[in-house]
Amino acid sequence: MAGLLLGASQLPGADGKKVFETYCWGCHHQTAMAFGPPFVQIAQKRSAEEIQAMITDPEAVSKVFGYKRNAMPAFKLNQEELDAITHYILSYKNAKVQ
Ligand code: HEC
Repeated sequence: MAGLLLGASQLPGADGKKVFETYCWGCHHQTAMAFGPPFVQIAQKRSAEEIQAMITDPEAVSKVFGYKRNAMPAFKLNQEELDAITHYILSYKNAKVQ
């Protein structure tokens, strides 16, 4: 959650890594389990649409994904940031889980 304190940076042509570092890093890592699942695991089982739905409405989507509880906050990202972070997550599809 500390990332939220950095504020919504205006990112023209948003950079997925920056979005990750700003909003997600506190709870997700690329290949290692953190508070939330690693991106490599997410990339292997979710589509871009599913990832974006989870970011904007985790309360509803985590239920669809089979989680009993939702511990992820919703994020108000613009479409560019959503596309950038989704692309970034999916780029880990073939990475190794640590
Ligand atoms: C406060 C901690 C926290 C932050 C910050 C956070 N997440 Fe999560 N995320 C979780 C947890 C915990 C889960 C597991 C499901 C749940 O609890 O709802 C999760 C689940 C997910 C999932 C679905 C996992 C699956 O089963 O496929 C995606 C996608 C996701 N997060 C993406 C993101 C992205 C992208 C960001 C940054 C914009 C982010 N999360 C920020 C905690 C967080």
